[in-house]
Amino acid sequence: MPTQDELKRLVAQAAVRHVLPNRILGVGTGSTVDLFIDALAAAGTPIAGAVSSSVRSAQRLQDKGIRMLDLNEVDDIPVYIDGADEIDPGFCMIKGGGAALTREKVVAAVARSFVCIADASKRVAVLGKFPLPVEVIPMARAHVARELARLGGTPKWREGVMTDNGNVILDVHGLSITDPVATETRINQIVGVVTNGLFAARRADVLLLGTPDGVQESFRVPR
Ligand code: A5P
Repeated sequence: MPTQDELKRLVAQAAVRHVLPNRILGVGTGSTVDLFIDALAAAGTPIAGAVSSSVRSAQRLQDKGIRMLDLNEVDDIPVYIDGADEIDPGFCMIKGGGAALTREKVVAAVARSFVCIADASKRVAVLGKFPLPVEVIPMARAHVARELARLGGTPKWREGVMTDNGNVILDVHGLSITDPVATETRINQIVGVVTNGLFAARRADVLLLGTPDGVQESFRVPR
């Protein structure tokens, strides 16, 4: 039985086929994406440059000699490749386990196609077992925590973590997210929230799932 790390590596290698040569590539954050960056560099696929969703990924891309671009200088990202903490049958995701959710959401918003790379453990029927990360302005932390508790969750401050944007993370436990678009919208309305880790309004378009039987590729059915 392959390990989770082996499945991540498998799916990271498969993702290289989704990179459009000589075009700008959006690159997410996380351990699966780290493996994807390694696979991309090893494959030598030429790209026009990369827009990254974190300082961590930007550093890794630069170390591989890949040209980094500022999102403000880019108006078209044909493909964005990123991992997920959970993904449901409708391709809605929970993201932000690596605290990069806000920049991930911004780059995903610009991208035309979101390719999610995940090992099989990330596939769930209903989102919410993985605590939902919420990025919050530091001075609003206690207020936002109270509001999240009113929604039925149990928020926990991810102490010692500061996002690339200088904010803090609350991880919300105990949510069963049966309507991801509604929950994403509702949490975004809490004053002090920068963004939350539900990627439902802008969800994945393609899923590459690493399973013991190989990589399963599926495409979202348009709503
Ligand atoms: C980063 O903030 C996250 O959204 C990651 O994409 C997600 O946590 C998946 O990470 P792994 O690839 O490390 O499982």
